[in-house]
Amino acid sequence: MGTILHLTCSPRGPLAYSRMISGEVVERLLAADPAGRVIERNLVETPPAFVDEGFTAAILASPPDFHASLAVSETLIAELEASDTVVIGTPMNNYTVPATLKAWIDQIVRIHRTFRSTRQGKVGLLRDRPVYVVIASGGYFSRPSPQGTPPQPDFLTPYLRAIFGTIGITDLHFITLEGLTRGAEARAQASAAARKRIAALLPPT
Ligand SMILES: Cc1cc2nc3c(=O)[nH]c(=O)nc-3n(C[C@H](O)[C@H](O)[C@H](O)COP(=O)(O)O)c2cc1C
Repeated sequence: MGTILHLTCSPRGPLAYSRMISGEVVERLLAADPAGRVIERNLVETPPAFVDEGFTAAILASPPDFHASLAVSETLIAELEASDTVVIGTPMNNYTVPATLKAWIDQIVRIHRTFRSTRQGKVGLLRDRPVYVVIASGGYFSRPSPQGTPPQPDFLTPYLRAIFGTIGITDLHFITLEGLTRGAEARAQASAAARKRIAALLPPT
């Protein structure tokens, strides 16, 4: 039995494309592993705290000081460590991840705990595992729009690759829904393309 960590961070609840389509990824994973367990972490209902002075002091203490300020961080890291697969549903906000997902990242990417610093650079301390990232965006960032508008900047996909890589997780797969604010036809095309990509990534067993 595998454990899936499902992270969602759209404030639009059940209407959110990122939540709906990432939920379909979870369902597909469960179809292949019906005894699988899902940890649901809704980062809007329970936003992770922003790092504060206590957190900053505790992570830099040598030897590490397991201070109360790290309690949230420990809970979120434990969920990630318990997972065999991670599924993230995220909107693109201002070319990158929403603040709630960034707050989660700031809690789980921790020196001496999920990575260490060496002369050769940062070395991840978590085992690798698949991460499926469903990205919902109003416009287009991986290609020009159908009208030929150039793609927007994308600081989301390279950022997630870099930050998960820092903690040892490199097996990332992106499923994008682009053009969601460009009318019903664009939305239908985006959903169909995302479902096709999911079927290719996770063929029925
Ligand atoms: C604060 C904010 C920032 C946004 N920034 C972008 C952006 O940079 N690029 C883009 O294509 N869409 C942007 N959007 C549109 C959302 O990505 C789009 O509505 C998406 O469908 C929301 O995801 P959801 O359906 O999962 O809630 C932004 C929306 C909001 C509210």
